[in-house]
Amino acid sequence: MTGTILKATNLTRHFGGGGFLSETAPVRAVDGVSLDIRRGETFAIVGESGCGKSTLARLLMRLLAPTSGTVEFDGAEVTTLEGNRLRDLRRDMQFIFQDPFSSLNPRLTVGRLVGEPLEVHRPDLSARQRREKVAELLTQVGLLPDHMSRFPHEFSGGQRQRIGIARALASGPKLIIGDEPVSALDVSVQAQIINLLGDLGRDLGLTLVIIAHDLAVIRHMSDRVAVMYLGKIVETGPAAEVFDSPRHPYTQALLASIPSPETRSEGRKARVQGEMPSPTAPPPGCRFHTRCPHAQEDCRTVEPKLEDPGTGAHPVACHHWQGIAAATGAQAVPKPRNETAEARFALYRAATEGARLEKTKKTETT
Ligand SMILES: Nc1ncnc2c1ncn2[C@@H]1O[C@H](COP(=O)(O)OP(=O)(O)OP(=O)(O)O)[C@@H](O)[C@H]1O
Ligand code: SF4
Ligand SMILES: [Mg+2]
Repeated sequence: MTGTILKATNLTRHFGGGGFLSETAPVRAVDGVSLDIRRGETFAIVGESGCGKSTLARLLMRLLAPTSGTVEFDGAEVTTLEGNRLRDLRRDMQFIFQDPFSSLNPRLTVGRLVGEPLEVHRPDLSARQRREKVAELLTQVGLLPDHMSRFPHEFSGGQRQRIGIARALASGPKLIIGDEPVSALDVSVQAQIINLLGDLGRDLGLTLVIIAHDLAVIRHMSDRVAVMYLGKIVETGPAAEVFDSPRHPYTQALLASIPSPETRSEGRKARVQGEMPSPTAPPPGCRFHTRCPHAQEDCRTVEPKLEDPGTGAHPVACHHWQGIAAATGAQAVPKPRNETAEARFALYRAATEGARLEKTKKTETT
């Protein structure tokens, strides 16, 4: 089945402030986001720390109520769901957390951790059938059925994230949202988990929404991407297009600042020059104008809309993207994939090839 599975319209979430007597301005974490996520695709949301990615994810999952705007899942409005219908939504949409160390209850065995969602969402299964299902899920994520009796602390970070993925798969979801699902892991382990998610997405026909700082990760695995800045989407389109022909100066700056494999393993994140303004007082006009090297007078007063230019290009919220590209040519557009990023892409490609070979070998010998 194709078409839209998840649709957000003008989604807004403000925190604090805003009351009649309040003296503080609200934090505009998400400020008028509209997007369509298609069934079976991998959709990525990228942007600097604090731009509103996690808040958006929680709004999409209905873990957080919006200040305004709507979310539709599978054609039904979910912002007002309660009771059984909300439970059904929890079954269909699952979350993978960033930190595999704190997201699993250390007192529960892997069997209990993965079996819990089955108890809630598959009450028809007997205890024995549930154990069989847990064994199947563990195998699906590259663990062993024997791991069922062990506790989370007995596993490595990558293995714990696999347990988290098995737990997310247990209810038989249609869509999984991963909020920085690999950023707490070593780079080599990241590649394995990313490939696992990609394989599961394809094999099970899942829709994946992946949030990451790491553009090399995103480029490797996503079909389409949305770039967020200060609570808004500033550019969106097919990942290959956005990465190879970034139009928004912010996307260009993000791509130019991808950290190298060495600095990434030290935990460094992509960093654009200048400070991101506070989301309590976003700049008027274009929110990026305080950091944009191409800002002109109108950028300070008129807000650019995220519009499809209708010229075969993807939607971008910048008054001057055509002028920037035409006037300065390739010179002004930072090379989207710098050398260090290339090294990262190569790493992921190699890991994918390795995994495929392993799979082929296994299939040939069984
Ligand atoms: N519960 C809350 N109360 C007040 N402010 C919040 C709350 N949750 C998030 N914020 C603020 O909203 C903004 C967006 O936060 P969010 O966590 O969504 O960003 P993010 O893009 O996920 O950042 P990171 O990449 O660091 O995870 C930030 O300024 C944050 O401080
Ligand atoms: S609208 Fe103006 S300030 Fe904003 S990104 Fe475009 S050129 Fe820069
Ligand atoms: Mg976050």
